[in-house]
Amino acid sequence: MEKYIIGNLKMNLLTQAERNHYLSSFSSELKKSKFPNSKIVLCPPCLHMEKFVGILQGAGVEIGAQNIFPEERGSFTGEISPLMVKNFGGKYTIVGHSERRRYFDETNAVANEKIKLALGSGLRPIYCIGETEDERRRDLTFDVIAGQLEEGLAGIANTQADKLVIAYEPIWAVGTDAVPTSDEVMEVKILIRKILSELYSPEMAERIPILYGGSVKSRTALEVCVEPGMDGVLVGRESLIPIEFLKIANIIDKAQ
Ligand code: 13P
Repeated sequence: MEKYIIGNLKMNLLTQAERNHYLSSFSSELKKSKFPNSKIVLCPPCLHMEKFVGILQGAGVEIGAQNIFPEERGSFTGEISPLMVKNFGGKYTIVGHSERRRYFDETNAVANEKIKLALGSGLRPIYCIGETEDERRRDLTFDVIAGQLEEGLAGIANTQADKLVIAYEPIWAVGTDAVPTSDEVMEVKILIRKILSELYSPEMAERIPILYGGSVKSRTALEVCVEPGMDGVLVGRESLIPIEFLKIANIIDKAQ
């Protein structure tokens, strides 16, 4: 399967100057390598999306949103419609990120609505799941993951499932520099694949990319992605440094 190297820029790039500097440095780093086996995706703040699409889409980078509201249009002050993202050139949206679950009460049920609207609007949802440190300590990882998948993907038809992307992001590894071992990642990946094959046909389950996210760096990419056989990564902090992000992409792309 093609690999997915996805950057979640979160709430960064605060000025036009900073944004423009990022884009020019990303573009010039991009010219130094080819990624024949991977899709490179960046999810900037929505305010920057149009510019990112304009500058990077032609260079083969796809753009996504970090969040959407689960309605097409209307009186939802402050929210972004999935159709807006689509019409402004976005192809993906992150859904259910642990920071949204934590600060905005985004439950599995809310994530489910967003996934449905994203698919209905022609966006590919990148559905984030993962356990807290406490849940792992109490041996609840598998139950948490199963619940997040079953509730978050409820009612998503087999025919739509090939548009899904799953990102396993253990919450204790997000923004911390702690990473699970390769075996720990692989165990969860096997569980996710098993649940997907219960929800969908086995062929379809095989086609859904399962990514790893949480403190991915060039020095951890082999351990958290390549060795456990993940289909790519969702990168936070390192995606803010184009040379580092593309170094990660190179390691994963060339490790086929
Ligand atoms: P870090 O790579 O900064 O740990 O963030 C991971 C993440 O939340 C990506 O969505």
